Amino acid sequence: MQHYLSLKDIDSLPQWVEEARSLKANPLQFKALGEAKTICLLFFNNSLRTRLSTQKAAMNLGMEVIVMNFGSEGWALEYGDGTIMDQGTSEHIKEAAQVVAQYCDIVAIRAFASLTDREKDEAEVVMNGFKKYAGIPVVNMESSVGHPLQALADAITLAENNTKKRPKVVLSWAPHPKALPHAVANSFVEMMHLQEADFVITHPKGYDLNPEVTKGAKIEYDQDKALEDADFVYVKNWSSYKDYGKVMNQDKNWTMTNKKLGKAKFMHCLPVRRNVVVADEVLDGPNSLVVQQANNRTYSAQIVLKKLLESLK
Ligand code: CP
Repeated sequence: MQHYLSLKDIDSLPQWVEEARSLKANPLQFKALGEAKTICLLFFNNSLRTRLSTQKAAMNLGMEVIVMNFGSEGWALEYGDGTIMDQGTSEHIKEAAQVVAQYCDIVAIRAFASLTDREKDEAEVVMNGFKKYAGIPVVNMESSVGHPLQALADAITLAENNTKKRPKVVLSWAPHPKALPHAVANSFVEMMHLQEADFVITHPKGYDLNPEVTKGAKIEYDQDKALEDADFVYVKNWSSYKDYGKVMNQDKNWTMTNKKLGKAKFMHCLPVRRNVVVADEVLDGPNSLVVQQANNRTYSAQIVLKKLLESLK
């Protein structure tokens, strides 16, 4: 594996989940692997879990970690080829990526969607720019279209809590006052394509995700119907894909409650807005897996970094 940019970089999800669970049981077992190796974590956007769990994962592997809030502290980057840089951008990705690569062995990047220009967001200029010019492994810590470290942590959490051969897993849209990206939902759907499960996506009409991502998945616009007999309910807001980046619906009837959840386990990537996305009673109740999911972010990052370090040898 050269990079971890999407779920497509996983050769066997069950095997990776098993290996990640072994790392969780004994996090320091490969402490020597990252000796004299450095990872740069570049954040173009805010983070709590991704920043701390990826740093923790690297430290568990014996790596040195450099963190930079690139979005607020770095120079504004230019990505276009042949651009006359007489406007807002100060440094080209060609130099920036090569310079960063001199300071580290692996670079991990968070760069969200703008939600204003779908074509530009789907081009993934930040992630692909570093991939093209850095010449070292690149890890996606949430890009415009995917959050594969989160989806891998979600797969670990599902494995830890599943008791059935073929569980029913529901991805439910929820209301939110702001326009949010599609990355978490996209990667969760891609991860569920790799699972043996009865998988259903539910959302109001107009909130269909990218049809290329959801191809083959069952979509049910009636949330109550979708939630019937669910074993796991993953709740997430996303803005419209068709009417790109727009908030078209804030219907509180889609907020997750104990009544809707029934006996299912509740999942969310966090951060979450209480009593908008999900009721207090769910988050504070025994069926919430959100803190366990956040803990598993360390081991999803650690299995990814371990595989990249092994490929550097
Ligand atoms: N779930 C997640 O990526 O959390 P942060 O945005 O806090 O990193």
